[in-house]
Amino acid sequence: MSMREMLRKRRAVRNLRPEPVEEDKIAALLEAATWAPNDRLREPWHFYVIRGEAKRQYEEAAHAYLRERFPTKPHLVEESLKVLLSTPLVIVVTSDIIPGDPDSSRDNEYAAACAIHSMWLAADELGLGFVWRTRGIGLVHDDRMHRLIGAPANRKVIGTLFVGYPAEEPPATKRTGYADKTTWLLELDSESR
Ligand SMILES: Cc1cc2nc3c(=O)[nH]c(=O)nc-3n(C[C@H](O)[C@H](O)[C@H](O)COP(=O)(O)O)c2cc1C
Repeated sequence: MSMREMLRKRRAVRNLRPEPVEEDKIAALLEAATWAPNDRLREPWHFYVIRGEAKRQYEEAAHAYLRERFPTKPHLVEESLKVLLSTPLVIVVTSDIIPGDPDSSRDNEYAAACAIHSMWLAADELGLGFVWRTRGIGLVHDDRMHRLIGAPANRKVIGTLFVGYPAEEPPATKRTGYADKTTWLLELDSESR
C-alpha cells in the first residue's frame, strides 16, 4: 500500500479488545515516533507507557475526574470508564517546555504531534487500533495525568494514546476536498495588498 493510501485509510479506533499488545509492537510504535521531524533535533518528546498497576491508578484518577466533571450523569461516567477498562495499552506523550522561549516550546508541541501521527500510522500497519485522546478520560487538560506519570514541570502532556486490537471496524469519516481549503497565490490582486 502506498503512503498516500495509508494516510487515507488511517482511522480513529475507539473500541479496543482487552488482550495485551506485544512488546515488539509497542517498541515498533515508539521507534516510529522517534523519526518524526523536530526543530533543531531537540527530540522534545517523552513517552510514558501505562499498563498493569499504573493503568489501574489511571483508571482511578479517570473515575474521580469523570465523577467530578459529570456529577449528574453516572451512565456517561460508566460508559467512558468502560472504554478505558477494555483498553490494554495507554501511551502518554509529553513535549518539552523551554523556559523563557514560548516559540520553541510551541514548536516542540508540533514535533510531538508529528510523532503521534507517525505512531498512529505505524499502529495501523501493525493491525492495531489507536486513538489520540485529549478530552474527557484522556486527562490531557487535567493536572491528574501529569501527576500520575510523574513528569517534571518542564514536560507538557500533549496526548493520551489508547492502543489495542480493534474490537470493531471504525466508522468511516469524511474530509472536505482540498480545493475548499486552499488559496492558490499565483495571481495576487495588487489592490488587496
Ligand atoms: C489533537 C487531537 C485530539 C483528539 N482528541 C480526541 C478525544 O479526546 N476523543 C476522541 O474520541 N477522539 C479524539 N481525537 C480523534 C478525532 O476525533 C478523530 O481523528 C476524528 O474524529 C476523525 O476521525 P478519523 O481520524 O477516523 O478520520 C483527537 C484527534 C486529535 C488530532
